Amino acid sequence: MRFIPTNCLQEGMQLAKPLYKGDHDLMLAAGIKLTPCYISSIVRLRYQGVYIDDNLSKDIEVVNIISDELRRETMAAISKIFVTAEQGGRVKHKLDINKQVGNIIDELLNNRNMMVNMMDLRSFDSYTYSHSINVAVLSIIIGITMNYKKDDLVKLGIGALLHDIGKVFISKEILNKAGPLTAAEYNTIKLHPQMGYDYVVEKYLVPILSRVTIADHHEKYDGTGYPRGKKKSEISFFGRIAAVADVYDALTSERPYRKALNPSDAMEYIMAGSGTQFDPDVIQIFTRKVAPFPVGTTVVLSNGWTGIVLENYESLCLRPRIRIFRQGSQDVEPFEISLKDDFQYLNVTIKEPADSV
Ligand SMILES: [Fe+2]
Repeated sequence: MRFIPTNCLQEGMQLAKPLYKGDHDLMLAAGIKLTPCYISSIVRLRYQGVYIDDNLSKDIEVVNIISDELRRETMAAISKIFVTAEQGGRVKHKLDINKQVGNIIDELLNNRNMMVNMMDLRSFDSYTYSHSINVAVLSIIIGITMNYKKDDLVKLGIGALLHDIGKVFISKEILNKAGPLTAAEYNTIKLHPQMGYDYVVEKYLVPILSRVTIADHHEKYDGTGYPRGKKKSEISFFGRIAAVADVYDALTSERPYRKALNPSDAMEYIMAGSGTQFDPDVIQIFTRKVAPFPVGTTVVLSNGWTGIVLENYESLCLRPRIRIFRQGSQDVEPFEISLKDDFQYLNVTIKEPADSV
């Protein structure tokens, strides 16, 4: 299978993975051939693209970093917690996500050598919950790579899943505003980490390390973040991890006020913030584990060739194995090259993700 950006979809292309509308409803099953009507639904739901199967890519497997089943189960659990928060009420609640967080950690530990090829398939509707899960997954991967024990990973995962719970107390008009925010609106948004922290302290029994992850996820390494302007080691370590995961996933998502960045542009932004916005130690791990050119995406090389990424290697994210199918504007019989191992291509670089396929 391979990833095709929405603007390049054509009638007759065959879907390789199912598409969902909102958080739960199946919209199009895997195997279905795209019609103009299906394509307009995909555009309307603001999917960034879909995976298709074709002759060029039928042997390429894009493995999900966590299973679809666990993602949906976690999505349901997290949406229940957010809806409960929206409804208010005085009672203390039991936090029902430990099991899912434990399962996410187990699945990630089983794939611990895997690179993150995250080209998440979400529509615009389900941003809040998908984002919570993606931030948790990315945070836990960083935690695993830093050799945290499972107990701590659970605390990190819970904090990351709940990092934005304070946003339920901010008006939707401000959160989803398409234009620039006024100073007053921005000040209101800046309240959400503390509001989230206060809410979980009041309503749940949540470990302190999870709570500070919520409180600190918008603090910046150089002290210019919010709510407290903490810097460096004043910021909890889990807060520093969640900050990177949060920004990366937000940048690669379609938002009311801007279009999604592709993973490589988001990675450039993250790297540029090392030591100012972000903890350099976290960035070092992050750039080792997350692929800027995920498996199944099409890339243009510095020699003018176009190909599909077949495999990424940890710590060598810019040197993947690629199936070339076009040289200049000429389609060619597909062949594979390795930017890591093939001597004759060591001076070839990836120029950009392809904007046509
Ligand atoms: Fe946030």
